[in-house]
Amino acid sequence: MNTRKEFREHSQLKVKLYESYLRRYLLILGQVKHVKKIAIYEPFAGPGKHDNGEDGSPLVAWKIINETKCHSSIQKSNPNIQLELWLNDENKDYTDELKGLLNPPEKHNIHIHNWTANEFCERLLHAPTNGDTHKLWFIDPFGYTQIDYSVIDNLLSQPHTECFLFVPLSHINRFINSATKQSDPAHKFLQWRGITNNIDSIESFAECVEKSFRGVNRYCYKFELKHNQNRYYLYFITSHIFGAQKFLEARDAILVYEISQGVISSDEAKRVYDKEMELRFEPKLKEFLKTKRDNLDIYSFSIESGFLPRITNSILKKLEKVAQLDIRDIGPPTGKTRRKGAFYIYKDVGLKIEVTWNGN
Ligand SMILES: C[S@@+](CC[C@H](N)C(=O)[O-])C[C@H]1O[C@@H](n2cnc3c(N)ncnc32)[C@H](O)[C@@H]1O
Repeated sequence: MNTRKEFREHSQLKVKLYESYLRRYLLILGQVKHVKKIAIYEPFAGPGKHDNGEDGSPLVAWKIINETKCHSSIQKSNPNIQLELWLNDENKDYTDELKGLLNPPEKHNIHIHNWTANEFCERLLHAPTNGDTHKLWFIDPFGYTQIDYSVIDNLLSQPHTECFLFVPLSHINRFINSATKQSDPAHKFLQWRGITNNIDSIESFAECVEKSFRGVNRYCYKFELKHNQNRYYLYFITSHIFGAQKFLEARDAILVYEISQGVISSDEAKRVYDKEMELRFEPKLKEFLKTKRDNLDIYSFSIESGFLPRITNSILKKLEKVAQLDIRDIGPPTGKTRRKGAFYIYKDVGLKIEVTWNGN
Protein backbone atom coordinates (compact mmCIF):
# COMPACT_ATOMS: atom_id res chain seq x y z
CA MET A 1 0.00 0.00 0.00
CA ASN A 2 1.22 3.46 -0.73
CA THR A 3 2.65 5.10 2.34
CA ARG A 4 0.73 8.37 2.02
CA LYS A 5 -2.54 6.47 1.99
CA GLU A 6 -1.52 4.39 5.00
CA PHE A 7 -0.57 7.55 6.83
CA ARG A 8 -4.00 9.05 6.12
CA GLU A 9 -5.81 6.02 7.43
CA HIS A 10 -4.09 6.09 10.80
CA SER A 11 -3.64 9.74 11.36
CA GLN A 12 -7.23 10.38 12.35
CA LEU A 13 -7.24 7.95 15.28
CA LYS A 14 -3.75 8.94 16.34
CA VAL A 15 -4.69 12.60 16.48
CA LYS A 16 -7.92 11.74 18.36
CA LEU A 17 -5.95 9.97 21.08
CA TYR A 18 -3.51 12.85 21.32
CA GLU A 19 -6.41 15.30 21.59
CA SER A 20 -8.20 13.25 24.20
CA TYR A 21 -5.08 12.99 26.34
CA LEU A 22 -4.11 16.60 25.90
CA ARG A 23 -7.52 17.81 27.04
CA ARG A 24 -7.29 15.83 30.30
CA TYR A 25 -3.61 16.54 30.86
CA LEU A 26 -3.79 20.32 30.43
CA LEU A 27 -6.92 20.70 32.49
CA ILE A 28 -5.64 18.69 35.45
CA LEU A 29 -2.04 19.86 35.42
CA GLY A 30 -3.07 23.43 34.63
CA GLN A 31 -4.89 23.65 37.97
CA VAL A 32 -1.82 22.72 40.00
CA LYS A 33 -0.74 26.04 41.51
CA HIS A 34 3.02 25.45 41.40
CA VAL A 35 2.92 24.54 37.70
CA LYS A 36 3.71 27.80 35.92
CA LYS A 37 4.28 26.58 32.40
CA ILE A 38 3.32 23.64 30.21
CA ALA A 39 5.15 23.32 26.90
CA ILE A 40 4.13 21.01 24.09
CA TYR A 41 6.73 20.06 21.50
CA GLU A 42 6.17 18.59 18.05
CA PRO A 43 9.46 17.95 16.21
CA PHE A 44 7.49 16.49 13.24
CA ALA A 45 4.57 18.87 13.05
CA GLY A 46 3.56 18.42 9.40
CA PRO A 47 1.63 21.10 7.49
CA GLY A 48 -1.25 21.45 9.98
CA LYS A 49 -3.94 19.85 7.83
CA HIS A 50 -4.15 16.29 6.61
CA ASP A 51 -4.83 15.46 2.95
CA ASN A 52 -8.53 14.97 3.68
CA GLY A 53 -8.76 18.47 5.16
CA GLU A 54 -8.92 17.34 8.81
CA ASP A 55 -6.90 19.16 11.42
CA GLY A 56 -3.47 17.72 12.08
CA SER A 57 -1.83 17.49 15.49
CA PRO A 58 -0.56 21.12 15.67
CA LEU A 59 -4.00 22.60 15.07
CA VAL A 60 -5.60 20.18 17.50
CA ALA A 61 -3.02 21.06 20.15
CA TRP A 62 -3.62 24.76 19.59
CA LYS A 63 -7.40 24.32 19.89
CA ILE A 64 -7.03 22.43 23.20
CA ILE A 65 -4.59 25.03 24.55
CA ASN A 66 -7.15 27.76 23.89
CA GLU A 67 -10.00 25.75 25.36
CA THR A 68 -7.93 25.10 28.48
CA LYS A 69 -6.95 28.75 28.94
CA CYS A 70 -10.61 29.81 28.90
CA HIS A 71 -11.80 26.99 31.15
CA SER A 72 -13.41 28.30 34.34
CA SER A 73 -11.36 25.99 36.62
CA ILE A 74 -8.09 27.30 35.16
CA GLN A 75 -9.31 30.88 35.33
CA LYS A 76 -10.09 30.36 39.01
CA SER A 77 -7.04 28.36 40.12
CA ASN A 78 -4.10 29.27 37.85
CA PRO A 79 -5.06 32.10 35.46
CA ASN A 80 -1.46 33.09 34.70
CA ILE A 81 -0.30 29.70 33.59
CA GLN A 82 1.68 29.76 30.32
CA LEU A 83 0.74 27.19 27.73
CA GLU A 84 3.26 27.03 24.91
CA LEU A 85 3.32 25.20 21.60
CA TRP A 86 6.65 24.50 19.88
CA LEU A 87 6.34 23.24 16.31
CA ASN A 88 8.96 22.07 13.84
CA ASP A 89 9.22 20.49 10.41
CA GLU A 90 12.20 20.16 8.10
CA ASN A 91 9.97 20.93 5.12
CA LYS A 92 9.81 24.72 4.75
CA ASP A 93 6.59 24.59 2.71
CA TYR A 94 4.97 22.90 5.70
CA THR A 95 6.22 25.38 8.28
CA ASP A 96 5.05 28.22 5.99
CA GLU A 97 1.63 26.59 5.83
CA LEU A 98 1.62 26.31 9.62
CA LYS A 99 2.49 29.98 9.98
CA GLY A 100 -0.44 30.83 7.73
CA LEU A 101 -2.87 28.63 9.63
CA LEU A 102 -1.78 29.80 13.05
CA ASN A 103 -1.49 33.36 11.91
CA PRO A 104 0.07 35.38 13.44
CA PRO A 105 1.98 32.95 15.67
CA GLU A 106 4.17 35.66 17.25
CA LYS A 107 1.13 37.02 19.02
CA HIS A 108 0.56 33.75 20.78
CA ASN A 109 2.72 31.30 22.60
CA ILE A 110 3.54 29.44 19.40
CA HIS A 111 7.05 28.95 18.09
CA ILE A 112 7.59 27.48 14.63
CA HIS A 113 10.97 26.20 13.43
CA ASN A 114 12.33 24.75 10.25
CA TRP A 115 15.10 22.50 11.53
CA THR A 116 15.74 18.80 11.50
CA ALA A 117 13.99 16.97 14.31
CA ASN A 118 17.34 16.18 15.95
CA GLU A 119 18.37 19.82 15.96
CA PHE A 120 14.99 20.95 17.28
CA CYS A 121 15.07 18.44 20.15
CA GLU A 122 18.70 19.10 21.04
CA ARG A 123 18.22 22.87 21.10
CA LEU A 124 15.08 22.75 23.19
CA LEU A 125 16.35 20.07 25.51
CA HIS A 126 19.17 22.30 26.52
CA ALA A 127 17.10 25.44 26.89
CA PRO A 128 17.00 26.29 30.60
CA THR A 129 13.67 25.68 32.37
CA ASN A 130 12.57 25.75 35.97
CA GLY A 131 11.13 22.90 38.00
CA ASP A 132 7.72 24.48 37.53
CA THR A 133 7.66 23.67 33.78
CA HIS A 134 6.09 20.48 32.40
CA LYS A 135 6.84 19.18 28.93
CA LEU A 136 4.95 16.97 26.53
CA TRP A 137 6.61 15.68 23.36
CA PHE A 138 4.65 14.32 20.42
CA ILE A 139 7.11 12.43 18.25
CA ASP A 140 5.25 11.47 15.16
CA PRO A 141 7.48 10.41 12.31
CA PHE A 142 6.00 8.10 9.74
CA GLY A 143 9.23 6.08 9.60
CA TYR A 144 11.57 5.42 12.47
CA THR A 145 14.91 6.64 11.20
CA GLN A 146 14.29 10.38 11.21
CA ILE A 147 15.43 10.92 14.78
CA ASP A 148 18.44 9.65 16.73
CA TYR A 149 17.55 7.29 19.51
CA SER A 150 20.01 9.03 21.82
CA VAL A 151 17.89 12.18 21.41
CA ILE A 152 14.77 10.32 22.56
CA ASP A 153 16.69 8.80 25.50
CA ASN A 154 17.88 12.25 26.45
CA LEU A 155 14.44 13.70 26.33
CA LEU A 156 12.91 10.87 28.40
CA SER A 157 15.52 11.32 31.09
CA GLN A 158 14.40 14.90 31.76
CA PRO A 159 12.17 15.58 34.77
CA HIS A 160 8.50 16.50 34.33
CA THR A 161 8.51 15.11 30.81
CA GLU A 162 6.01 12.91 29.01
CA CYS A 163 6.15 11.57 25.51
CA PHE A 164 4.00 10.12 22.76
CA LEU A 165 6.08 8.09 20.36
CA PHE A 166 4.64 6.76 17.14
CA VAL A 167 6.31 3.55 15.93
CA PRO A 168 5.40 1.74 12.70
CA LEU A 169 6.19 -1.73 14.06
CA SER A 170 4.92 -3.61 11.01
CA HIS A 171 7.52 -1.87 8.87
CA ILE A 172 10.29 -2.62 11.32
CA ASN A 173 9.19 -6.23 11.60
CA ARG A 174 9.22 -6.64 7.85
CA PHE A 175 12.78 -5.33 7.73
CA ILE A 176 13.89 -7.58 10.57
CA ASN A 177 12.62 -10.59 8.68
CA SER A 178 14.25 -9.63 5.43
CA ALA A 179 17.43 -7.83 6.45
CA THR A 180 20.76 -9.50 6.73
CA LYS A 181 23.02 -6.62 7.65
CA GLN A 182 23.45 -5.86 11.35
CA SER A 183 23.76 -2.19 10.50
CA ASP A 184 20.23 -2.15 9.16
CA PRO A 185 18.06 0.51 10.89
CA ALA A 186 15.58 -2.12 12.06
CA HIS A 187 18.34 -3.92 13.94
CA LYS A 188 19.44 -0.63 15.41
CA PHE A 189 15.91 -0.22 16.72
CA LEU A 190 16.07 -3.67 18.40
CA GLN A 191 19.45 -2.85 19.84
CA TRP A 192 18.11 0.42 21.21
CA ARG A 193 15.23 -1.34 22.96
CA GLY A 194 17.47 -4.20 24.14
CA ILE A 195 15.33 -6.81 22.39
CA THR A 196 17.36 -9.94 21.76
CA ASN A 197 14.72 -12.68 21.62
CA ASN A 198 13.20 -13.85 18.36
CA ILE A 199 10.08 -11.99 17.40
CA ASP A 200 7.32 -14.48 16.67
CA SER A 201 4.43 -12.07 16.24
CA ILE A 202 3.83 -8.39 15.89
CA GLU A 203 1.80 -8.43 19.15
CA SER A 204 4.67 -9.87 21.16
CA PHE A 205 7.04 -7.42 19.47
CA ALA A 206 4.76 -4.57 20.53
CA GLU A 207 4.70 -5.88 24.11
CA CYS A 208 8.50 -6.22 24.21
CA VAL A 209 8.83 -2.59 23.15
CA GLU A 210 6.29 -1.51 25.78
CA LYS A 211 8.15 -3.43 28.52
CA SER A 212 11.46 -2.01 27.39
CA PHE A 213 10.23 1.52 28.11
CA ARG A 214 8.94 0.63 31.59
CA GLY A 215 11.05 0.98 34.68
CA VAL A 216 11.01 2.20 38.24
CA ASN A 217 8.56 5.09 38.22
CA ARG A 218 8.33 4.94 34.45
CA TYR A 219 5.00 3.93 32.94
CA CYS A 220 4.53 3.01 29.32
CA TYR A 221 1.38 1.98 27.46
CA LYS A 222 0.76 1.21 23.86
CA PHE A 223 -2.17 2.04 21.66
CA GLU A 224 -2.59 -0.08 18.57
CA LEU A 225 -3.68 1.26 15.21
CA LYS A 226 -4.58 -1.49 12.77
CA HIS A 227 -5.19 -1.46 9.09
CA ASN A 228 -5.24 -4.52 6.84
CA GLN A 229 -2.04 -6.42 7.64
CA ASN A 230 -0.30 -3.40 9.11
CA ARG A 231 -0.03 -2.46 12.76
CA TYR A 232 1.20 0.82 14.08
CA TYR A 233 1.74 1.66 17.72
CA LEU A 234 1.60 4.85 19.63
CA TYR A 235 3.56 4.52 22.86
CA PHE A 236 2.89 6.83 25.75
CA ILE A 237 5.72 7.18 28.27
CA THR A 238 5.56 9.06 31.55
CA SER A 239 7.19 9.07 34.96
CA HIS A 240 4.08 10.47 36.58
CA ILE A 241 1.36 8.14 37.83
CA PHE A 242 -1.36 10.73 37.35
CA GLY A 243 -0.27 11.31 33.74
CA ALA A 244 -0.46 7.54 33.33
CA GLN A 245 -4.02 7.46 34.66
CA LYS A 246 -5.06 10.28 32.31
CA PHE A 247 -3.64 8.35 29.37
CA LEU A 248 -5.64 5.24 30.34
CA GLU A 249 -8.77 7.41 30.51
CA ALA A 250 -7.99 8.87 27.07
CA ARG A 251 -7.57 5.33 25.71
CA ASP A 252 -11.03 4.52 27.07
CA ALA A 253 -12.49 7.62 25.47
CA ILE A 254 -11.07 6.46 22.14
CA LEU A 255 -12.89 3.18 22.54
CA VAL A 256 -16.09 5.15 22.88
CA TYR A 257 -15.16 7.11 19.74
CA GLU A 258 -14.43 3.91 17.81
CA ILE A 259 -17.75 2.51 18.92
CA SER A 260 -19.45 5.66 17.67
CA GLN A 261 -18.02 4.88 14.22
CA GLY A 262 -18.99 1.22 14.32
CA VAL A 263 -22.04 -0.93 14.32
CA ILE A 264 -22.30 -2.26 17.85
CA SER A 265 -24.05 -0.27 20.53
CA SER A 266 -21.82 1.55 22.93
CA ASP A 267 -23.40 -0.12 26.00
CA GLU A 268 -22.82 -3.54 24.61
CA ALA A 269 -19.26 -2.83 23.51
CA LYS A 270 -18.38 -1.21 26.82
CA ARG A 271 -19.77 -4.20 28.70
CA VAL A 272 -17.78 -6.65 26.57
CA TYR A 273 -14.68 -4.48 26.84
CA ASP A 274 -14.93 -4.13 30.63
CA LYS A 275 -15.64 -7.84 31.04
CA GLU A 276 -12.57 -8.69 28.98
CA MET A 277 -10.44 -6.26 30.99
CA GLU A 278 -11.68 -7.75 34.26
CA LEU A 279 -10.96 -11.30 33.13
CA ARG A 280 -7.43 -10.35 32.13
CA PHE A 281 -6.65 -8.44 35.30
CA GLU A 282 -8.39 -10.60 37.93
CA PRO A 283 -5.72 -13.35 38.30
CA LYS A 284 -2.94 -10.75 38.55
CA LEU A 285 -4.84 -8.77 41.16
CA LYS A 286 -5.61 -11.88 43.25
CA GLU A 287 -1.95 -12.84 43.20
CA PHE A 288 -1.00 -9.32 44.28
CA LEU A 289 -3.54 -9.40 47.13
CA LYS A 290 -2.20 -12.64 48.57
CA THR A 291 -0.02 -10.21 50.53
CA LYS A 292 -1.76 -7.53 52.60
CA ARG A 293 -2.06 -4.29 50.57
CA ASP A 294 -3.44 -0.87 51.37
CA ASN A 295 -5.71 1.11 49.06
CA LEU A 296 -2.83 3.24 47.71
CA ASP A 297 -0.75 0.14 46.89
CA ILE A 298 -3.76 -1.18 44.99
CA TYR A 299 -4.12 2.12 43.11
CA SER A 300 -0.45 2.05 42.01
CA PHE A 301 -0.61 -1.62 41.05
CA SER A 302 -3.71 -1.00 38.99
CA ILE A 303 -2.18 1.88 37.02
CA GLU A 304 1.18 0.11 36.61
CA SER A 305 -0.66 -2.86 35.15
CA GLY A 306 -2.54 -0.58 32.74
CA PHE A 307 -6.03 -0.93 34.25
CA LEU A 308 -8.15 1.96 35.42
CA PRO A 309 -9.30 1.93 39.07
CA ARG A 310 -12.91 1.33 38.01
CA ILE A 311 -11.90 -2.10 36.64
CA THR A 312 -10.07 -2.93 39.88
CA ASN A 313 -13.04 -1.72 41.89
CA SER A 314 -15.40 -3.92 39.98
CA ILE A 315 -13.23 -7.02 40.60
CA LEU A 316 -12.89 -6.20 44.29
CA LYS A 317 -16.65 -5.76 44.66
CA LYS A 318 -17.21 -9.17 43.14
CA LEU A 319 -14.65 -10.77 45.48
CA GLU A 320 -16.16 -9.05 48.50
CA LYS A 321 -19.59 -10.42 47.60
CA VAL A 322 -18.29 -13.99 47.71
CA ALA A 323 -16.42 -13.29 50.97
CA GLN A 324 -12.94 -13.70 49.47
CA LEU A 325 -11.52 -10.47 50.88
CA ASP A 326 -10.29 -9.60 54.36
CA ILE A 327 -10.68 -5.85 54.72
CA ARG A 328 -9.40 -3.81 57.67
CA ASP A 329 -9.86 -0.08 58.31
CA ILE A 330 -6.50 1.66 58.79
CA GLY A 331 -7.46 5.30 58.24
CA PRO A 332 -7.88 7.94 60.94
CA PRO A 333 -11.08 7.26 62.95
CA THR A 334 -14.10 9.00 61.41
CA GLY A 335 -16.87 7.37 63.47
CA LYS A 336 -18.34 5.97 60.26
CA THR A 337 -18.15 2.37 59.15
CA ARG A 338 -16.88 1.57 55.68
CA ARG A 339 -19.55 1.18 53.06
CA LYS A 340 -19.59 -2.20 51.33
CA GLY A 341 -18.02 -1.89 47.86
CA ALA A 342 -15.90 1.17 48.77
CA PHE A 343 -12.20 0.51 48.11
CA TYR A 344 -10.78 4.07 47.88
CA ILE A 345 -8.62 3.45 44.83
CA TYR A 346 -7.69 7.07 44.13
CA LYS A 347 -4.44 8.93 44.16
CA ASP A 348 -4.96 11.56 46.84
CA VAL A 349 -7.42 9.85 49.14
CA GLY A 350 -4.93 8.81 51.86
CA LEU A 351 -4.65 5.49 53.63
CA LYS A 352 -8.07 4.00 54.33
CA ILE A 353 -8.11 0.21 54.22
CA GLU A 354 -5.95 -2.87 53.98
CA VAL A 355 -7.07 -5.75 51.81
CA THR A 356 -6.03 -9.41 51.50
CA TRP A 357 -7.45 -12.03 49.17
CA ASN A 358 -8.32 -15.20 51.10
CA GLY A 359 -9.54 -17.34 48.20
CA ASN A 360 -7.61 -19.94 46.27
C1 LIG B 1 3.58 12.04 9.87
S1 LIG B 1 3.95 13.70 9.45
C2 LIG B 1 3.40 14.59 10.88
C3 LIG B 1 1.95 14.66 11.05
C4 LIG B 1 1.45 15.46 12.22
N1 LIG B 1 2.05 15.06 13.47
C5 LIG B 1 -0.05 15.37 12.31
O1 LIG B 1 -0.57 14.49 13.00
O2 LIG B 1 -0.72 16.19 11.70
C6 LIG B 1 5.66 13.71 9.59
C7 LIG B 1 6.35 15.02 9.24
O3 LIG B 1 7.71 14.90 9.60
C8 LIG B 1 8.49 15.68 8.71
N2 LIG B 1 9.86 15.13 8.77
C9 LIG B 1 10.34 13.96 8.28
N3 LIG B 1 11.62 13.79 8.61
C10 LIG B 1 11.98 14.87 9.36
C11 LIG B 1 13.18 15.25 10.04
N4 LIG B 1 14.27 14.48 10.01
N5 LIG B 1 13.18 16.41 10.72
C12 LIG B 1 12.06 17.19 10.78
N6 LIG B 1 10.91 16.88 10.15
C13 LIG B 1 10.86 15.74 9.46
C14 LIG B 1 7.82 15.51 7.37
O4 LIG B 1 8.08 16.64 6.54
C15 LIG B 1 6.33 15.39 7.77
O5 LIG B 1 5.69 16.61 7.63
